[in-house]
Amino acid sequence: MFFKKNSMILLEGQKMKLIIVENYEEASVEAAKVMLEQVRSNPKSHLGLATGSTPIRLYELMIADHKLNNTSYRDIKTFNLDEYCGLQSTHPQSYHYFMNKHLFDGLDIDLHNVYLPKGFGDIQENCDAYNALLDKNGLDLQLLGIGSNGHIGFNEPGTAFESKTHYIELEESTRQDNARLFFNGNIDEVPTHAITMGIQNILDAKKILLIACGESKAKPIQTLVEGQMTIECPASALQNHQDVVVIVDTAAASLLTKK
Ligand code: GLP
Repeated sequence: MFFKKNSMILLEGQKMKLIIVENYEEASVEAAKVMLEQVRSNPKSHLGLATGSTPIRLYELMIADHKLNNTSYRDIKTFNLDEYCGLQSTHPQSYHYFMNKHLFDGLDIDLHNVYLPKGFGDIQENCDAYNALLDKNGLDLQLLGIGSNGHIGFNEPGTAFESKTHYIELEESTRQDNARLFFNGNIDEVPTHAITMGIQNILDAKKILLIACGESKAKPIQTLVEGQMTIECPASALQNHQDVVVIVDTAAASLLTKK
């Protein structure tokens, strides 16, 4: 196996496609191609969506395409991965608010077709309701970022691969990472718990698109692409999936040994 820049590699024995590009912009453009292909080929797609800094440029490209080419989201349904516990949807740091600001406000999506797990009230009831919703609808494409500790959604290391939507305590490192870019840099403002789709919910999606950029993602990307499957790196569960596209920039690819 041989990795080179701007290349697409079909990994031996896996259905994972690895695309290595130069930088964040190129990664977002590649991701937009996959996303738009999904939306155009099936205008009634069910999309699993993600938050964090990584998908922001992809979302800008989707909005630009919608304005330029009239790609419609009227019949699209979306299901977000996760939400902080204790933040109402109107809180500027809630993922609900994030999604409105970075994506939904710029599209013709029907907000009745937009779903996020609810991080307040009876959390167990919310988990059960979200699982029922996901089971009923099914996901055509799940978009993912990745945590520097290998988490997907908010499935922290140690989470069972069979997990469904659940309540989770966030690792200190995750709260630190998220405070660096959001919450005015103040870790004390970052909630300690979240509600997240489980790894099994993610694996149930027909197709998975993961984007990783920057040096802090190099280690989990190495485990995902070249390592053993282990619950210590939740993203490595994707090795079991039949249709995964992983898009990385050179920094996130920097620990891949078979270059
Ligand atoms: C949060 C989200 C994840 C996201 C991760 C990476 O923890 N729950 O879904 O993948 O952050 O964030 P970033 O893209 O900012 O590096």
